[in-house]
Amino acid sequence: MKIKEKHLDAVKEFSRFAKTYEAHNIIQEEVAHTLVSHITEKMYHTIVDIGCGSGAVYKNILKRKIHFDCYMALDLSEEMLLLHPEDNNVKKICANFNLKDTYQSFNLADNSILLSSSALQWSKELDFIFENLSKKSNQAYFAIFTSNTFKTLHEIANIQSPIYSVESLKKSIEKYYNAKFQVKTYKLYFETVRDMFRYIKKSGVSGGEKQLTYKQIKQLMHTYPLKYLEFEVLFVESYLKA
Ligand SMILES: C[S@@+](CC[C@H](N)C(=O)[O-])C[C@H]1O[C@@H](n2cnc3c(N)ncnc32)[C@H](O)[C@@H]1O
Repeated sequence: MKIKEKHLDAVKEFSRFAKTYEAHNIIQEEVAHTLVSHITEKMYHTIVDIGCGSGAVYKNILKRKIHFDCYMALDLSEEMLLLHPEDNNVKKICANFNLKDTYQSFNLADNSILLSSSALQWSKELDFIFENLSKKSNQAYFAIFTSNTFKTLHEIANIQSPIYSVESLKKSIEKYYNAKFQVKTYKLYFETVRDMFRYIKKSGVSGGEKQLTYKQIKQLMHTYPLKYLEFEVLFVESYLKA
């Protein structure tokens, strides 16, 4: 896999030449790495990873030598949980973060944190999620894709992003937390428009293209003006309100 990476102001750019699983997840991998780099403490009782997927956050936690007694890896998908690394102190939980039962099924000791990378854009109701999460732990770090992901594509196709804007995310989070926010944008370059659309289909961060017919997608492939896809992520470092 050959990945070209350069910083241009706040925009991080990637080229994608390979069709490997890792390349497919390149933006999510980068987001998980950045999220974990924001964590300052080195020792926790429990770390809860909401929408843990195949373990991108967990791998970065180990790399940065952040210690914990228990790592709760929570995901809706059993297939993803099977891909998540195992260990004596890793507890896998198959649960839906949109359901009340999920939050009733565990309690956390002091000095525990909640983490979530690239998953909470699929929250059904933001206030429900952040209210329930804020009752579990004093401290949380989130990375959430925003509605400016695939912005140009959505604009020219005249479809609304299925995920939340920065403003609506901030508004809900600030009801329950004191929070520091950072917005990061990413560009992922492709060799052909066909590769780009194949990526979108698999990516799981849009959903918007599902509103289009096959014919509309074909037309969009001809008119899409950029050689890259756009991504926007809101990073949140939050503490409970006093
Ligand atoms: C884009 S992946 C991110 C995975 C991982 N956190 C990472 O950074 O690579 C989103 C994950 O959220 C999970 N997910 C989506 N909706 C969920 C829900 N309602 N409850 C729990 N997990 C959910 C998916 O199964 C998937 O594993």
